[in-house]
Amino acid sequence: MGKQGKKQSHLNRQQCRGAKTSSYYEEQDQEYPSTPLASPFEEQNNESQQENSAEEVDENEQNQSNSDVPSKFWLYQQSVQSPKGDVSYLQKFFLMYVGGRMPLHLQEDFCGTALLSVEWLRTDARRTAVGLDFDVDALNWCMENNVNKVGADVSSRLFLFHGNVLQPLEAVLINSVPQDLVRNLSLKDSEDGAVTVPPLGSEGSSETMICNGTMKDTQMPARDIVCAFNYSCCCLHSRKELVLYFKYAHSILSKRGGIFVMDVYGGTSAECELRMQRKFSTFTYVWEQEGFDVIQRKTRISLHFNLQKQHKKIRHAFSYSWRLWSLPEIKDCLDEAGFSSVHFWVRSMPDSEDIKTINGFGIGRDIKYEHVTSFHQQDSWNAYIVGVA
Ligand SMILES: C[S@@+](CC[C@H](N)C(=O)[O-])C[C@H]1O[C@@H](n2cnc3c(N)ncnc32)[C@H](O)[C@@H]1O
Repeated sequence: MGKQGKKQSHLNRQQCRGAKTSSYYEEQDQEYPSTPLASPFEEQNNESQQENSAEEVDENEQNQSNSDVPSKFWLYQQSVQSPKGDVSYLQKFFLMYVGGRMPLHLQEDFCGTALLSVEWLRTDARRTAVGLDFDVDALNWCMENNVNKVGADVSSRLFLFHGNVLQPLEAVLINSVPQDLVRNLSLKDSEDGAVTVPPLGSEGSSETMICNGTMKDTQMPARDIVCAFNYSCCCLHSRKELVLYFKYAHSILSKRGGIFVMDVYGGTSAECELRMQRKFSTFTYVWEQEGFDVIQRKTRISLHFNLQKQHKKIRHAFSYSWRLWSLPEIKDCLDEAGFSSVHFWVRSMPDSEDIKTINGFGIGRDIKYEHVTSFHQQDSWNAYIVGVA
């Protein structure tokens, strides 16, 4: 890892310089910009020939369900997420830093389509999961496609909330949870002194959990793990917001011990324009990174999907304005929020030059994370950050 850390190609340094002069956030209604990073790979040339003839689908248009075109949420789940790997690291971190019991209760903040929560529930019948996101389309898609397709034994253990992580108690429950499950869970947790949320009001006597109840009215077990994945904390732009969110995460963890886990990416290639693509059997996923503002540490990331069979492109299927938090900044905020220790698990990623176009997940997905206390800068890395309450 150390050796690789020192490797920074001359080409990459040139690319970053190029990005400085040619970037900045013009509206992206033109064809993919030809960035200084454009690779001469043959596959990419073929792709760009196709691009001229492919019909473009606006992401809003695409949302109005064209049966021929897969949903952007389905495409995202296939190409971006790897919930099994995340769940396995979550368990490992919990046992390592808390231990003494199995983690059963997860909160997935910024959950999108809550794929991770569903995977969490599927793998142990005792588990519960809470998902929270402010994208109502993602939550609805989750209900129709992830939740309704697993059995009631799984879906009944999921609490899905629509709301802002900065005002979580106002978030609204959008699915139904059987009342007896809630009562059993909360009684059990009360014995351990672990219930954190105020008890239900009189409406709690119905068969199913109140729809449209808010998080503050909803009785749920204290969480063993809270997570925020796929760089979601970068959606919070100010230090004040980040600390506020971390304080909330800390407050819902079990008094018997719990962890908060988030991820972030970095490296020299994270701070310049970049366009990478992954080819899957029926579509290509494109990550487009705009120029990096070194004063505000902000960039804009757009995800596009090119559908081979349909000759269609879903451009800007997802677009994020991100504040790229550094590892010491995150530690500082977690400390301030009350976490007793913070741990970094990092994996080096292949040089962005070598992975401009890869098939499927390529080798990156198999590279293991390692616990580090020092890590030399390199082209590209990913990190899990674990805050122990
Ligand atoms: C990068 S996506 C990550 C989705 C999912 N966690 C994953 O692992 O792929 C970020 C998600 O955060 C949500 N989001 C951003 N800011 C939020 C906020 N303040 N409160 C709630 N959700 C937010 C977006 O709607 C989006 O679904």
